[in-house]
Amino acid sequence: MGKTKISDNKTLDRVYTATNYQELMSAYGDWAKQYENDTVGAFGYVAHIATAKALTDVVDDKDSLILDAGCGTGLVGEQLVEHGYTNLEALDYSAEMLKEAEGKNIYSRHIQADLSKPLDIPNNKYDAIVCTGTFTYGHVTPDGFDELVRITKPGGTICFTVREGAYEDHGYGERLEKLESDNIWKLLNKFDTDYLKEENVSCKMCVYRVCAE
Ligand SMILES: C[S@@+](CC[C@H](N)C(=O)[O-])C[C@H]1O[C@@H](n2cnc3c(N)ncnc32)[C@H](O)[C@@H]1O
Repeated sequence: MGKTKISDNKTLDRVYTATNYQELMSAYGDWAKQYENDTVGAFGYVAHIATAKALTDVVDDKDSLILDAGCGTGLVGEQLVEHGYTNLEALDYSAEMLKEAEGKNIYSRHIQADLSKPLDIPNNKYDAIVCTGTFTYGHVTPDGFDELVRITKPGGTICFTVREGAYEDHGYGERLEKLESDNIWKLLNKFDTDYLKEENVSCKMCVYRVCAE
């Protein structure tokens, strides 16, 4: 959690400058109903579209069991449904964001959990995980990658964004490379793409295949 001012936008600033999870969840709780209007409508948020597209490049089976980790209101899930995926579960720490996602009736399960802590989910459960907008300032630490790997099947896919700036400043890039050099996962694709277009913010889209044990 940091105190750095990342944006001139007050709503975004409250989310990015939370100093603990209570503050962060309170910010998301207050934002949940307006989140899509603000992000997609005003800030030009497009990372959910790019994530679903990146997944289609590597996951052909439309019945794959996919976890939308840090699902928020379900923007990524909606895109996945548009691409024909049928078997989605949702996870978020914010009860209010998760409730918005639940209202979309696109996920078969809604899990309220903290991605920075051990998850009550069995090993090797998911064929794929998407995680968009959640590896960023003050949200989920690089330790979160370890849990995502644990609950993904060997040979499964993990597709996520890391916000520009946080990639370098918060140790995400370093941890991604370490997991690769330790043969925990293999890089399939990584590229810079728009995140909040109107705020001129980009992110890295990262796609990894989990190695066999
Ligand atoms: C920027 S939103 C992105 C939501 C959604 N993936 C999207 O693309 O619109 C980040 C989400 O991560 C969730 N989040 C933040 N920290 C978390 C944590 N430690 N564990 C689980 N979810 C977390 C927030 O509640 C919020 O819903």
